[in-house]
Amino acid sequence: MQPLQTTSLRVADNQLFILDQQALPQQKQWLPASTVEELVGHIHALRVRGAPLIGLSASLLLALLAEQGANRDQLAQALATLRASRPTAVNLMNNLDRMKQALAQEHFVAALSAEALRLIEEDKALCDNIANAGSALVTPGSRLLTHCNTGGLATAGVGTALGVIALAHQQGNVANVWVDETRPLLQGGRLTAWELGELGVPYQLITDSMAASLMAKGQVDAVWVGADRIAANGDVANKIGTYSLAVLAKFHNVPFYVAAPQTTLDPHCPNGDAIPIEQRAAAEVTGVAGSFGAVSWAPENARVYNPAFDVTPAALISGWVLDSGVVTPADVVNGIFQPR
Ligand code: MRU
Repeated sequence: MQPLQTTSLRVADNQLFILDQQALPQQKQWLPASTVEELVGHIHALRVRGAPLIGLSASLLLALLAEQGANRDQLAQALATLRASRPTAVNLMNNLDRMKQALAQEHFVAALSAEALRLIEEDKALCDNIANAGSALVTPGSRLLTHCNTGGLATAGVGTALGVIALAHQQGNVANVWVDETRPLLQGGRLTAWELGELGVPYQLITDSMAASLMAKGQVDAVWVGADRIAANGDVANKIGTYSLAVLAKFHNVPFYVAAPQTTLDPHCPNGDAIPIEQRAAAEVTGVAGSFGAVSWAPENARVYNPAFDVTPAALISGWVLDSGVVTPADVVNGIFQPR
């Protein structure tokens, strides 16, 4: 395969490498993802993360394994294992369904490679379209709040919600970004803060529990988040804590926008109750770990509840900003979300 480089994926010498998103921002280290076991390990540990990126990394690895001589049965098994690596972000399933069709073709090696590269290029274009559609909603002097990480690290392009914020900043309309640290794994504090700093966007890092008082003081003009799956009725699964922000935004009359590409839509999922929510390890809540070491503060045998995502009901969302344009609450007809 031809060499390829995005913010967090690299193909060089026919090998896949990932930028370790658990080591950032203290260390910028690229790790090999040469086998299914290796990539699944990175996905479980959130070294590769973000709804679009996990689908793209899995697709690239399949294409590379095919080029290295894996047969159709081995690739089908690899595809099934990768598809099951995380349950919530439907981009993974949607991308791998496309790869499955390529695998069914006679010249599957070339077909898989072409399809993986097409998915990468498409994702870049989807991000650009989202940024264009979303930035039109950002008014001059905006103080925006965002949760988790939705930037170039999580996609092949400029990102989703963070792509909107970056373009709105270039257009001179962003006064400040409130960055939720995003417990438990701190994708906001580690990654969004780093990306905004690199882009020169003014931001202030806050703990997740500070959003309410900021909104009460009139310090937040809009909330922008990404999505891991959008159900047929417009309910949205995203990083845990998103739902609380949507409730707060509704109470304080702050617009709440969800930015996502078409690969995040799941028309087969009737509503948020049907979205599978990933449960994660207790250690992520009883302490923190990172390139700076591991710290644990809870009693050793503390019982823990650690869902990675929550569901925001469609009724709390002011707009779904897709690559095809902005869907408003008026476009949810008879309980069905109608993308343009
Ligand atoms: O557990 P993560 O870090 O993969 O969760 C990521 C999110 O929830 C993002 O908001 C979502 O995937 C959109 S990324 C463009």
